[in-house]
Amino acid sequence: GADLDALAHTILKDNDLGGYTIPTKGLYPYQWNWDSVFVAIGFATFDLNRAWQEIENLFEGQWDDGMVPHILFRKNDPSYFPGPSVWGTKSEPFPTSGHSQPPVAATAVRDLFEQSSAPENADRAKALFPKLMAWHRWWATCRDPKGHGTVAIVHPWESGRDNLPDWDEPLSNVDTTGVPEYTRKDTSHVDPDMRPLKKDYDRYMAILAIGKACGWDAAEVVEKTPFLVADPAITMILLRANRDLLVLADKLGFQNDKAEIEGWIAKQERGMDSLWNPEIKAYVTRNLRTDVLGTGVSSASFLASYAGLSDPKVIEPLNAHFDRIAGKVDFMLPSYDPDHAGFEHKRYWRGPIWAVVNYLAARGMTEAGEVARAEKIRQDTVRLVERSGFAEYFSPVDGSGAGGNSFSWTAAVWLAWAT
Ligand code: DGY
Repeated sequence: GADLDALAHTILKDNDLGGYTIPTKGLYPYQWNWDSVFVAIGFATFDLNRAWQEIENLFEGQWDDGMVPHILFRKNDPSYFPGPSVWGTKSEPFPTSGHSQPPVAATAVRDLFEQSSAPENADRAKALFPKLMAWHRWWATCRDPKGHGTVAIVHPWESGRDNLPDWDEPLSNVDTTGVPEYTRKDTSHVDPDMRPLKKDYDRYMAILAIGKACGWDAAEVVEKTPFLVADPAITMILLRANRDLLVLADKLGFQNDKAEIEGWIAKQERGMDSLWNPEIKAYVTRNLRTDVLGTGVSSASFLASYAGLSDPKVIEPLNAHFDRIAGKVDFMLPSYDPDHAGFEHKRYWRGPIWAVVNYLAARGMTEAGEVARAEKIRQDTVRLVERSGFAEYFSPVDGSGAGGNSFSWTAAVWLAWAT
């Protein structure tokens, strides 16, 4: 309704620090990569210029090797840990974190480009195109060490799905004996029962220290990190983003880049086969150190249509999982299978619903003609926000809000899609 729309606008304005937007005050006081891209999609519903600016500012943090970091530390804020000094990256033009986050940007740039035929709109897309190209090339080279056509992440934070139960096996191989004492800040902002465990944080800190010791050189980090896991969500988000980048190349006159993008798409389509778990019939993680596959149906599987995957041998079992899960919980899409032992309905990425994943999954299903399931996801998202406001995430069991409040990306996808 109108009240919620107004509140969503207020949240985006309040979290706008001047050209870039933070996810929420206190808990996440910096610019985060994929948060900013969803925020841009929200801004585009009422201020196209501000939407472009959000993405342009994100790319100010791009590294020389093409990587776009997951956090941009534009000005120090002690309410967050681990801050810039813990990461120890280069500090010009400002410090950042040392790894990336899911690459939704090219898809959003295509959306913004298609929203207006004004020449200056095309100019802004053109200016971003080479930066997107460099980032996608970085994924295809620096994050696919075995040439599988999948994205291997070097830290759970790179996935954006920090404590997914599928990371438990790879994280169990991380040695935490050298981790110095540290004080978390997240659990002073949010109920610890809704956050990753200390055991997980120790491992996050151990992996971070190894990356720092490598000077964040991408090849060295991939060689030395104890955590190197192919992630179906990032791979599918990148596959989709490459399809959108190809359209942009065509429409913006970057014809010479098309063959390279087509090569990535073909390789990633094949790569997804290596993430199919035939026992559970879903897309899962693959630990590249041990070759162990993930065992649970996470919300990543429901991004298949978004990624443009349409083989009925994949879509039919996924639809069966969808219907089974929808019969089990009151709200879709839980981030992890409620029938799996790892499921916890309020603990971050072990079960809660994230509005941005709902948006991506429903968008893909709509495009593929799966209208009823897409509409179920959208209506459930509306019910969640009506009931619990613009929370960071929601329990699929009782619809209660969890994590931070007044959350930018929840407000943004509300405006762009749910309402
Ligand atoms: C956090 O600090 O919880 C973030 O998820 C890291 O990106």
